[in-house]
Amino acid sequence: MNPVIRPRRLRTTAAMRRLVAETRIHPAQLILPVFVREGIAEPAPIGSMPGVVQHTLDSLKGAVADAAAAGLGGVMLFGIPSTRDAVGSGATGADGILNRATEVAVAEAGDALVVQTDLCLDEFTDHGHCGVLDARGRVDNDATLERYRDMAVAQAQAGSQLLGLSGMMDGQVAAVREALDAAGLTDTAILAYAAKYASAFYGPFREAVDSQLVGDRRTYQQDPANRIEGLREAALDEAEGADVLMVKPAMSYLDVLDDVAATAQVPVWAYQVSGEYAMIEAAAANGWIDRDRAIRESVTGILRAGAGAVLTYWALELATGAAS
Ligand code: PBG
Repeated sequence: MNPVIRPRRLRTTAAMRRLVAETRIHPAQLILPVFVREGIAEPAPIGSMPGVVQHTLDSLKGAVADAAAAGLGGVMLFGIPSTRDAVGSGATGADGILNRATEVAVAEAGDALVVQTDLCLDEFTDHGHCGVLDARGRVDNDATLERYRDMAVAQAQAGSQLLGLSGMMDGQVAAVREALDAAGLTDTAILAYAAKYASAFYGPFREAVDSQLVGDRRTYQQDPANRIEGLREAALDEAEGADVLMVKPAMSYLDVLDDVAATAQVPVWAYQVSGEYAMIEAAAANGWIDRDRAIRESVTGILRAGAGAVLTYWALELATGAAS
């Protein structure tokens, strides 16, 4: 018997395949994470993330200009302070590195893209946790919310248009929304890292931000074993007023992304994290995989699973067509 139905017809030529492709990577749905470090004179490479650097306030301008020229949807800023303390004071001062970087980025970007900021204390605390600690050394949820409220207002006043709440404290979205509104910052939007898992794939990021963490974040980030819990976290954040939800990491959590995207009434994004980047770069550097194809396939998979936008360290390269 010869088959009557032949799905291969739609795969016969490159033009046909392009025409019937269900998923495309568009620059507007790519967000570039950008690291800015206080007290360095030149951009500093990150060993475990080849091609990614810690920027100076000056080199940040060029990075934002390039992102805007490439039509990216946005940049997500992370700050690396030169001094740290127990409560992460550098996160809330207007002269803190992240807030200064935000001002620089906003001035450079104009209306071309959305400047976003990581709202979390881990880069600013001397113990490296995402919140402040209680007398017994545990992360104190409610005391941390007070810090997040101040941090949110400082970031919004610096010009951030979208605050990336990545600390996984209970009630953080409601607390930050209330603080913003009380300060009259009603237009500042919240991106809730709703389903954020305690992942080994954040490894290279710890180098990128010079993390001081000893131990892990398992009392606040989610257990990789749990799918329903991801939906619960997402529903809570949406109910608390999140404007956008995020699933993170991406590649190992596509089922969670699919679940959240199917039920949320707000945009759902995913973060292709540092370890996902490093794995492909390292394998490609060894000649074990085709780098450009692997990059595109990984991001296509995340979009196909339901992400409306993707944070990826390859954003610029993908948008400019360098990886094609
Ligand atoms: C917390 C934060 C982390 C990442 C983004 N925001 C680190 C963590 O939760 O341990 C990781 C991003 C990446 O690995 O690319 N400020």
